[in-house]
Amino acid sequence: MAKDQTVFFSFRSCCCILVLLSAISSIPLLYWSYFFGYDYYSYIQTTVNNKKEPINLLRFPNAWNHLVFSSVPPQRLLKIALFVKKWPAEHHAGGLERHALTLHLALAKRGHELHIFTASSSNLSFPLYPTMNNPHFHISRPTAAGYLDQAIVWKQFQAENASGRPFDVIHTESVGLRYTRSKNLNNLAVSWHGIAYETIHSDIIQVLLRNTTEDPAESHALTERVKKVIEEVKFFPNYAHHVATSDHAGDVLKRIYMIPEERVHVILNGVNEDIFKPNVSKGNDFRSNLGIPESKSIIVGLAGRLVKDKGHPLMFEALQQVFKENSTFRDSVIVLVAGNGPWGIRYKGLGSNNVMVLGPLEQDQLAGFYNVIDVFINPTLRAQGLDHTLLEAILTGKPLIATKLASITGSIIVNKEMGYTYAPTVKELKKVLYKVWEDGREILQKKGKFARERGMKLFTATKMAAAYERLFLCISGDEKQADNYCIYQPQFI
Ligand SMILES: *[C@@H]1O[C@H](CO)[C@@H](O)[C@H](O)[C@H]1NC(C)=O
Ligand SMILES: *[C@@H]1O[C@H](CO)[C@@H](O)[C@H](O)[C@H]1NC(C)=O
Ligand SMILES: *[C@@H]1O[C@H](CO)[C@@H](O)[C@H](O)[C@H]1NC(C)=O
Ligand SMILES: *[C@@H]1O[C@H](CO)[C@@H](O)[C@H](O)[C@H]1NC(C)=O
Ligand SMILES: *[C@@H]1O[C@H](CO)[C@@H](O)[C@H](O)[C@H]1NC(C)=O
Repeated sequence: MAKDQTVFFSFRSCCCILVLLSAISSIPLLYWSYFFGYDYYSYIQTTVNNKKEPINLLRFPNAWNHLVFSSVPPQRLLKIALFVKKWPAEHHAGGLERHALTLHLALAKRGHELHIFTASSSNLSFPLYPTMNNPHFHISRPTAAGYLDQAIVWKQFQAENASGRPFDVIHTESVGLRYTRSKNLNNLAVSWHGIAYETIHSDIIQVLLRNTTEDPAESHALTERVKKVIEEVKFFPNYAHHVATSDHAGDVLKRIYMIPEERVHVILNGVNEDIFKPNVSKGNDFRSNLGIPESKSIIVGLAGRLVKDKGHPLMFEALQQVFKENSTFRDSVIVLVAGNGPWGIRYKGLGSNNVMVLGPLEQDQLAGFYNVIDVFINPTLRAQGLDHTLLEAILTGKPLIATKLASITGSIIVNKEMGYTYAPTVKELKKVLYKVWEDGREILQKKGKFARERGMKLFTATKMAAAYERLFLCISGDEKQADNYCIYQPQFI
């Protein structure tokens, strides 16, 4: 501790004060950092960053997003192969496809030669990016089950690998490239957007919410899930490097899946910081277009697919009860719902004074949506992956409410400054809705500001792309050169 203190003096004064206070008073640092509203996790990160010793990135235990990378493209440009089941035509595609699009277009813009192996059943609507001479698409027809036809994509890949220069690095989004093909490739990284072990938490929540007496079909499904985990534990080692999209998934890959730590890297998702940013006038326009009355002092936002496993039955029930039991809440709160799905109609049933169902929004409208709300809630019960909507709200400067899932509490809502978390029951959700309402706009704005500051360091598309670029440089074929890229020289922020 004493050695660290001297290092700290020239850096974040906040850190100094906290460390000194805890040293003098012997009250633990965690307490003081809480007292000052200072993020304990940032403290840990600052410690890492401010040590002068170089870091071996492959053994870096935390998310790479905490590191600082140069904005200048590297001297060495890579030839990258990407395997992804589907390439999205629209920007509002979610999850894995959105990740592939955001990340790889950013890498192409930085000058890397990109080859995308993907499936499409129609070649008419395919985006070709006419303004870029990069990326190159290698299209094949999907299998009946909707996967990449492994024999065909492998042939396409080998043909490209043999023409001109070979690939420096191979990236597969989930099992885009099956393990049977990835087995002997050292310069390969797979990104996991959800692993079976995480899903067990979702299963437990769903069973409890159904509240039925024992159902044989249910216990069969649960048994199958555990088998799936074991299957994954067996085949995952066939991928050389693993990118976990949350800190929790990284931990599970190392401990439960027993993958050696130097092959597991945490890179959190990022979203486009040029689109999702604070803009008061955009929010005001959105508000007046919708005609939201002045009497509404808190606007709660919900976005995404309105389906059961995203937690909408629970959300619906909690809102219905709160609106019914408390007229003051009803008069001063309005909920905006963006997206579509079966629960849209149910929400409409709560009355347009209480809930406005907006349907799916284009990216620009979505930016308006995030700007008008005071707090964003994502009631998802899916424990896997890292939801993009949470990150979009953060970059717009809004605090969050979300379920206590390990990926969320471990990587996003890491403290009370970022927002609120609740156990997925109607009772707990109602409690958190009341709490947010009682806290009011001023506190929400303060949290939102904190969320954006943290988000701009961690969750931008630029940061995500820079982290992946560095990983790709590090694991790429040329070992002599790659070595340098695996060593990170800490910067002083
Ligand atoms: C689509 O691709 C197939 C084969 O890849 C080709 O035969 C067909 O002519 C293409 N259709 C159009 C409209 O480009
Ligand atoms: C790609 O080409 C290089 C150079 O010819 C070769 O060493 C490598 O094995 C090839 N990769 C695959 C997966 O075939
Ligand atoms: C579950 O069902 C029982 C009886 O059917 C009921 O008493 C209990 O309140 C229910 N629990 C929840 C959490 O809904
Ligand atoms: C804010 O939004 C308005 C309305 O959409 C737009 O005209 C303006 O350029 C935006 N400002 C910034 C800084 O992006
Ligand atoms: C609504 O809830 C608030 C805060 O919990 C409470 O002060 C108020 O009395 C309630 N109003 C009604 C009508 O129940």
